[in-house]
Amino acid sequence: MSFSIFRMYRHFFLISLALFKGFHSVLSLNEVDLKRSLLDPTVYDKTVRPRINTTHTVKVEVGFTNVFVVDVDEKGSSLSQACYLFVGWNDEFLTWNASQYEGIDDFIIDISSIWNPDVSLLGRMEIDQEVKFSRARVQSNGTVNTTFVGQLITHCNTDPSHFPFDYQLCNIRLDSQIYTKSEVDMEFTFAKMIPDYKSNPNWNTAYITRNSIDKQEINVCLQRKSLYLSALYMVPTTMHAVLILVSFLVPSEAGEKISFGMSLFLSFMVLLLQLNGDLPEVSTSIPALEIYVMLHLVSGVVSLVVSSFTAYIKQNSDQSEYRNDAKVKDVSSIVPNNKGKPNNKRRTNICERLRSEIFLNRLGFVSSFILILAANCVMLNAKVVSTDCGHLL
Ligand SMILES: *[C@@H]1O[C@H](CO)[C@@H](O)[C@H](O)[C@H]1NC(C)=O
Ligand SMILES: *[C@@H]1O[C@H](CO)[C@@H](O)[C@H](O)[C@H]1NC(C)=O
Repeated sequence: MSFSIFRMYRHFFLISLALFKGFHSVLSLNEVDLKRSLLDPTVYDKTVRPRINTTHTVKVEVGFTNVFVVDVDEKGSSLSQACYLFVGWNDEFLTWNASQYEGIDDFIIDISSIWNPDVSLLGRMEIDQEVKFSRARVQSNGTVNTTFVGQLITHCNTDPSHFPFDYQLCNIRLDSQIYTKSEVDMEFTFAKMIPDYKSNPNWNTAYITRNSIDKQEINVCLQRKSLYLSALYMVPTTMHAVLILVSFLVPSEAGEKISFGMSLFLSFMVLLLQLNGDLPEVSTSIPALEIYVMLHLVSGVVSLVVSSFTAYIKQNSDQSEYRNDAKVKDVSSIVPNNKGKPNNKRRTNICERLRSEIFLNRLGFVSSFILILAANCVMLNAKVVSTDCGHLL
């Protein structure tokens, strides 16, 4: 009974609507009537692509605005950013004449009650690749606009070879999981960022661009802020390098040379322990900072090896001197005329010892210096090469 009354009411409503439309009635209709007439289930099916001619493509335009970078996870290869996605398309079934509806030119509607494209981001690292929208604004010419505001986590391959002066390039790709490109054609219309808004303490967004060839893709270029890392590691490492070079000036007779080198080595180990936590845990390439620190470590080892060898030479020659002295005493007691020769031998022995010691010391100094220079060149190279994401494209 009530069902037939409802149907009668609906028929009456539709007929009167047709009459209003037909005769340009003076009676005006409000937003409720407008929505009812547009979304009437006998007229509108939200599962049907909004094209009167089904061979026509629905163009979906997506605008991307990066607000700020939330996090870059090198180990998990992900980029998390706060962003806006502006999505618009045209629905040919949602058009009306505004002057017939109190001049209502647009209205807000729940997105679930109209057709909407499945805007998915390829490589989105969340449960659902599809971006969910909540409400949309529909205009009288059929334009539908909706916005996603929130956090997006997408896949991003990071290359730490210029760490800590590295730039990282991340791609975001549009994709429809159900529709083919001839049915729904999605493309980015713009990609921009809000400069000097809220920023990440460790990452800057260098730029965001639309891929010039593939309009379904945008590139996000990120710059690591290196101040913290360079201040934390480069200053102590440079101090360490200076001390290593100074250690070659300590005479081996002082006996403290090895313990000086050893304490330098150990203090450097403390820095290495700290470094473990700060390096990106990626096995794709060796970070420049790691090479820098390791070369300094090797120069420390060189200094230790050299001081050990000089100590060994010194001890050896001291012993042979002692033996020579003993021999000289023996020989002199038997042959008192032959005094000049062993003295000469002893002198050449000391000279040889000094020469080999000085030679070793110089060799050590030069190789340590070269290692330290190489370490600084590695850092300088990393700094110079990465000025933007150009080398990653
Ligand atoms: C819209 O309606 C008004 C008044 O009812 C009419 O004059 C006008 O021609 C209509 N416009 C269109 C595009 O149908
Ligand atoms: C649909 O559009 C295509 C190409 O624009 C056209 O060839 C075809 O005749 C149209 N079909 C109808 C039913 O209008």
